[in-house]
Order: sequence, then structure tokens, then C-alpha cells
Amino acid sequence: MQNPINVLLLLTVIVAGVMFVIDPTRVDILLGILTVSLILGVLLVLPIGGADMPVAISLLNSYSGLAASMTGFVLQNNMLIIAGALVGASGIILTLIMCRGMNRSLMNVVLGGWENAGQEAASGSSAPQGDAKSVDAEEAAMIFDSAQNVVIIPGYGMAVAQAQHAVRDLANILEKKGINVRFAIHPVAGRMPGHMNVLLAEAQVPYDKLFALEDINDDFKNVDVAFIVGANDVVNPAARNDKSSPIYGMPILNADYAKTVIINKRSLNVGYAGIQNELFFYPNTLMYFGDAKEAINKLVNELKEL
Ligand code: TAP
Repeated sequence: MQNPINVLLLLTVIVAGVMFVIDPTRVDILLGILTVSLILGVLLVLPIGGADMPVAISLLNSYSGLAASMTGFVLQNNMLIIAGALVGASGIILTLIMCRGMNRSLMNVVLGGWENAGQEAASGSSAPQGDAKSVDAEEAAMIFDSAQNVVIIPGYGMAVAQAQHAVRDLANILEKKGINVRFAIHPVAGRMPGHMNVLLAEAQVPYDKLFALEDINDDFKNVDVAFIVGANDVVNPAARNDKSSPIYGMPILNADYAKTVIINKRSLNVGYAGIQNELFFYPNTLMYFGDAKEAINKLVNELKEL
């Protein structure tokens, strides 16, 4: 029922808008347009699920640019027109990049809200669903030491912990030991497109070590250790396996296909989408708990001693 109501409200706003243009003295019509627009805005945004919310925010940001641009036309202010158009255009480009990264269409994100909200409820709890195996720094170091092929998967937690320099140190020490190290970058890892690339570039990780999802995903079966640093939703196999999951259909990094998966995060808590990650409980997964920067520094120290 929600989509027909939205369409009805939109048509009401358009008709009232035309009436107001014909008779601009009708303040009651203007107030009506404001009220109906407000309700329409709330109804459009309310059902959008956690993982899709950044897309909605970016879209609203883009609308704010368009509104500023329109105001520029009314006030005959060229600066406002140009600045508003730039905000509007960049916002819509960012929105489309996010949609592509999540394998969704913009229409599906904006209009599929209620459907997704229902699915979220159906797909159930965000509570841990099993026993996860954990390792300490010494055990993790021994696993890395015996690997030949390591892929590091950074996520939002690496950014929060400012752990990019520690991650670079880890890559350096592994390479000194003759281990092949690559980085797998998911298009929506972190909170902005390119978030991980920027942080790793700041830590001077060579660009040719960074691989986009489509370039590395088929190779995970040959990887000895997939090391996930503060990433969660972007490696959640539910996106592949669970039709009832709100992230079903989003491309993920196939970290679970690696021989061993080591996940560094502080707890079994959920990520941005608010859903549990079955990967934590897989037989080939080991949890390495702790703040990313601290935990990886410890790991590097252990590796130096081996
Ligand atoms: P998330 O799924 O949000 O997971 C991040 C994980 O980092 C959390 O589960 C958290 O677990 C851990 N963490 C937080 N602080 C940490 C710390 N100090 N040390 C170690 N771990 C820490 O991140 P993701 O996998 O990068 O996925 C991105 C999500 O953000 C997607 O759902 C995507 O839709 C959304 N999003 C993306 C964008 C773009 S365009 N990139 C924009 C907005 C939103 P603990 O609490 O257990 O530590």
C-alpha cells in the first residue's frame, strides 16, 4: 500500500503546485504543499533499511543542491545556481556509484524500502548464532608465518582505529618473509567510495597491491590466509546464500573461500547493515579480537620474533 500512497501524495503536490503557479496569492495551497511534501519525505525515507541508508543520505544531499540551484533562479543569483548544480550533480554521481557497488538500482533502493524492511524482520536476529573460535596474537602470527599467499581485506573498522599504518607494517613484514600480500577492496567498504584506497595510499601501500572485487574474487580459493580488518557486511556470505537477507544480491568479497580466514574486530557485533555475519562461525574462520591498531601492532611484534 505504501507506494500507491506515495504516488498519490506526489500527484497531489504536482497538482497543487500548478494551482499555486496559476494563483500565487493562495497561501493555503502553499501551506498544503509544504505539509504534503513533509509527509511524502518521511514516508519515502522511513522504510529504507540500514545498508541502503547511505544511498538515501547521498540522494537527499543531491536534492539539497538542486533546491539551492532552483533558489538561485528565483533570486537570479548565478553563484547559487552554479554551486547548487555542482552539489546536485556530484551527489547524484556518488549515489549512483554506491548503488552500483551494492548491485542495486536507485529505484529499487528508494521504492523497495518496505519490502526490504519486511525482509530484515524476517531474516531475524542480530544476536550471535553459534560458537566462534578465537586466536591470540601469537597463534595468528604462526598461521601467517606458514602462509604463502595472504589477502588483506580492510573495512570500516580499520578507518575507525586508524590502523592503516599498522596494516602496512604487517604487509611489509610478511613480504620480507617472502609471502605474497595483496589487498582486496570492496567498492562500499568503509563509509565512502574509495575510503579504503585513500587510507592505504596515505600509509603508502603501493597502488598495484590493491585489487578491486572483480579482479581478485575468483582467486580466493588459492589464498592461504584472508585477513579481514574491521570489515563485516562486505564479506557476509548471507549476501550470496540467504534470500531473506536485506543485503541479498550485494556483491561480496569471497573471503570465506580462502583456506583460513582471520577476522580482526572487537566483538561479534554487527556491521552497518545491522545483521549477523555467519562467516564468524565457519569452520575455517578464526576471530582475532581487539582494536585493529593495537591488535595488528601486537601481531607485527610477534611476527618479528618468529
Ligand atoms: P561494517 O559492516 O560497518 O563493519 C565494520 C566493523 O568494524 C564492525 O562490525 C565493527 O565490529 C568493526 N570495528 C569498529 N571499530 C573497530 C576497531 N576500532 N577495531 C576493529 N574493528 C572495529 O563495515 P564494512 O564491512 O566496511 O561495510 C561497509 C558498510 O557500510 C556496508 O554496509 C555499506 O553499505 C555501508 N556504507 C558504505 C558506504 C560506502 S559508499 N563505502 C557509505 C556508507 C555506508 P566491532 O564493533 O565488533 O569491532
